[in-house]
Amino acid sequence: MYTIISYGCQMNEYDSARVAAMLEFHGLQLAKSVSEANVILVNTCSVRAKAEENAIARIRDLKKLKVENGNLKIGILGCMAKNKGESLLKELPFVDFVLGPDEYQKLPEILFSTSHLPLATPHSPLNPFAKLANNYSAFVAIQNGCNMRCSYCIVPYVRGVERYRESDSVLREIEQAVAAGVSEITLLGQTVNGYRYNGLSFAGLLKLVASVNGIERIRFMSPHPRHYTSELMEILLNEPKIAPHVHLPVQSGSNSILKKMKRAYTRQDFLSIVEALRLSNPFYGITTDIICGYPGESEEEFEETLSLVQEVKFDTAFMFAYSPREGTPSAIEKELITEAQKKARLQRVIDLQHAITLERTTLMVGRHEKILLEGPSRRNKNEWLGKTGNFKKVIVPANPNFKEGMYLDCVINGVKGHTLIGE
Ligand code: SAH
Ligand code: SF4
Ligand code: F3S
Repeated sequence: MYTIISYGCQMNEYDSARVAAMLEFHGLQLAKSVSEANVILVNTCSVRAKAEENAIARIRDLKKLKVENGNLKIGILGCMAKNKGESLLKELPFVDFVLGPDEYQKLPEILFSTSHLPLATPHSPLNPFAKLANNYSAFVAIQNGCNMRCSYCIVPYVRGVERYRESDSVLREIEQAVAAGVSEITLLGQTVNGYRYNGLSFAGLLKLVASVNGIERIRFMSPHPRHYTSELMEILLNEPKIAPHVHLPVQSGSNSILKKMKRAYTRQDFLSIVEALRLSNPFYGITTDIICGYPGESEEEFEETLSLVQEVKFDTAFMFAYSPREGTPSAIEKELITEAQKKARLQRVIDLQHAITLERTTLMVGRHEKILLEGPSRRNKNEWLGKTGNFKKVIVPANPNFKEGMYLDCVINGVKGHTLIGE
């Protein structure tokens, strides 16, 4: 019996699903709870100090299970495994092994070398099929690693240089997912729209994915603003299977900060992408990531982020206080802003964005939307939860004919918190 605890981004979620498929291929079953498992894997993230602290606290907490179960194996996977390496075994001596993101094919050998189980031939790590968390929506990684080296970011160091997956292998995985009932695909990569393979661009790949029978909705994340070609814009605005939502990280509204961050675009470049998308569809969902308190960020520079948030009207945003990561270029820059100032700036942008999120949500009232039903609401069994194309949550009254993964036409007639009410 195994269990995987995942932290971090969708790429980690996808890797966990791949690892789960690999373990099940070798005969392991998913445990109903951590206390039942003989193998516990913690897939970690290093993007901010807090992400590492959370994972370490959780792993420490697992120590007591090892006392109760002598057969239990605990492994640390993911970006922190790569970042801290074997030093984690010193810090957490009860942990059995540490494997970075490029080493998961070693897992069966590590797990089975001391047991009597015969070792079956594992799936090729280059063409894995992720085990699905549900049977209607699946992630498919098309890119690994990142060449951007934004000054603050640890991802390129823990995930390596960009590698793009062969388009045939991507399409085969999508066809397998469709055969298992999936109709919504999210293509994953750190700069997903920079995809290229044997002359095929990201726009070209999107066309191929859209031509797969049974695919109804295509999403992707995270695109980078520098890779918005006219070819890409054309397919985004004209292919109805591509959902009208994009998670497009901006990080800052200030050109001087963007330059220091090495983001390779200006505020104006970003705004022109937003303008094209929202001009074609005012309800186009645009979400983002924002960092507050980059080393040396002045009050004026921070206010440019506020004014950008106001101008774009993001549907939602993930907002973070800058966290220095050892080994990245910005970690050696002197931090002139105190933690308290960073937190205060973060709160200001959060407050502004919350008001805008409510405004954007309320704008949906009265619209006819097709939602993808995800299942009964956890809070109220008489309600079901679904998502619109532009990535908004909708609650509808339950109906005995509902099935997970079904598309439903509904009218939006209200708002509760940040959730839409539909009928
Ligand atoms: N590849 C994606 C981002 C991956 S990391 C992209 O470039 O769009 C997810 C988010 O974490 C980033 O968009 C950024 O907002 C945030 N982040 C990364 N490093 C950070 C740091 N050192 N401190 C605070 N936030 C950070
Ligand atoms: Fe990090 Fe920048 Fe690469 Fe995104 S594009 S993963 S922020 S280095
Ligand atoms: Fe993702 Fe965190 Fe790694 S954001 S790529 S899990 S450092």
